[in-house]
Amino acid sequence: MPLKSINRRTFLEFLGKGVAVSSLAPTLIPLATSYYKELTGIAPSREDELKLAKGLNFDVLVKWEDPISKKDKFGFNNDFTAFIPLDKANPDDGILWVNHEYVDPFFVSNHVEGEKTKKQVEKEMYNVGGSIMRVKKNDEGKWEVVKNDPLNKRVHGMTKIPFNWDQPIAGKKVAMGTLGNCSGGITPWNTILTCEENYDMFYGERDFKSGKRIEKKAFLAWHTQHDNPPEHYGWVVEVDPQTGKAQKHVALGRCAHECATMKELPDGRVVVYSGDDSVNQCLYKFISSEPGSLAKGTLYVANTRLGKWLPIVHEENKILQKFFKDQTDTLIQLRKAAKYLGGTPLDRPEDIEIDPANGNVLVSLTNNSTKKNYFGSILKIEETDGKHDALTFKPSIYLAGGEETGFACPDNMAFDKAGNLWITSDISGSLMNKEPYIPFKNNGLFVVPRTGPQAGKVIQMASAPSDAEFTGPFFAPDGKTLFLSVQHPGEYSTGPNDLTSHWPDGGDNIPRSAVVAITGETLDALQGS
Ligand code: FEO
Ligand code: CA
Ligand code: CA
Ligand code: CA
Repeated sequence: MPLKSINRRTFLEFLGKGVAVSSLAPTLIPLATSYYKELTGIAPSREDELKLAKGLNFDVLVKWEDPISKKDKFGFNNDFTAFIPLDKANPDDGILWVNHEYVDPFFVSNHVEGEKTKKQVEKEMYNVGGSIMRVKKNDEGKWEVVKNDPLNKRVHGMTKIPFNWDQPIAGKKVAMGTLGNCSGGITPWNTILTCEENYDMFYGERDFKSGKRIEKKAFLAWHTQHDNPPEHYGWVVEVDPQTGKAQKHVALGRCAHECATMKELPDGRVVVYSGDDSVNQCLYKFISSEPGSLAKGTLYVANTRLGKWLPIVHEENKILQKFFKDQTDTLIQLRKAAKYLGGTPLDRPEDIEIDPANGNVLVSLTNNSTKKNYFGSILKIEETDGKHDALTFKPSIYLAGGEETGFACPDNMAFDKAGNLWITSDISGSLMNKEPYIPFKNNGLFVVPRTGPQAGKVIQMASAPSDAEFTGPFFAPDGKTLFLSVQHPGEYSTGPNDLTSHWPDGGDNIPRSAVVAITGETLDALQGS
């Protein structure tokens, strides 16, 4: 069962299954009217600074190692953020969830070479997962973490997390920890979905033929101190931000899940879209068969050539029966299953957003070096009749990266209240400011206005510090704040005397990933307030 309140469950049971409204397309959200006149974007920059367009300001809300309670500290490499107000009537006080994706041993465990000690591995394990913090605007209107609030806690690489599944996974019902927490999503019942993306860098991957661990993939080699099976990672994990309790949703399959974008159908059933962010991997959607369930339902893979969602059901499919033992085995080896069924290899599907104006599903395709697609694109999926549980769709290219549009390698996206689309770029640190990415300089944050004189244009609104990418853009419910992660500044530093970034503290300080709160008149004007 998903973590949700009894009240909600009772309410859904009252509604019953398959009520008449289920045939209707989900309701669309009315958009605020934008009244900006002309946006002045910024030019790409190579500076080790967070630069913003005119009319925008930022404050650093929390950074790596900041204490959030007497016991806990904010983790490393923050990514997805989600803000949930404690009281719907007050948008200035709520819970902020933040993902922590992976660690850089150079900064986190001081590990350089040789086998890591248990202490080093556990320090790294503590620094991934997520942070839960109460955040609030102070009297001066600035966002602050409420230090030592009873809500503040960490979920990390050693937290015990059960599988929401009838069968054990690699012999166990409970996993040790969550990791690779890249992007995520939020459920209609206000819990968090955090996605375990590049899980193989921690414990490697299973060679399903020999049964052995493929150790060379385990760059961080945590298995040398904790012998956890690779099958325990690569899932969509649900966390209740009120309690910190988590569960891994096996029904959504196992891959390098970038995100989990959810839509509730009018009858209370839910649809979850998720991409497998690796070159030539697929796009998935789960449709629940019961209201509010992330266990009962069907997982589909997209064939974007035919515009079809193909069911991944062992019981009903001879090909799957030939290669996999049962549904659990199929879901564990999802990538392989998807290819056997005809899932279309895509150009690294990353974040997914549903356009509030028309229900179109936008999927960031970051790039694909094997196809010489260096700049990526945004794929638009129009579900048949606008229904998110449709099994057919019309695919098209919504936006293409490149010098003409001014951005490359789209990753995270967010719509604001007026339906303007915000995009972050993820040019890999090893290629940034090198061919063919020289014109784009550092990674950035971009907006595509929905209306007005610059409608449809891509305008750069922020530039990230050296080696960093912006991740996890998330708007406060009143649209007046954009929470944004600045991840891995200075990642290509080669030693303490050769730091490529000193952001955000400047001087000789080491770089630290941080969450910033962006506010300002430009943000307000864009959303008509
Ligand atoms: Fe962690 Fe696909 O970005
Ligand atoms: Ca990402
Ligand atoms: Ca997003
Ligand atoms: Ca990325």
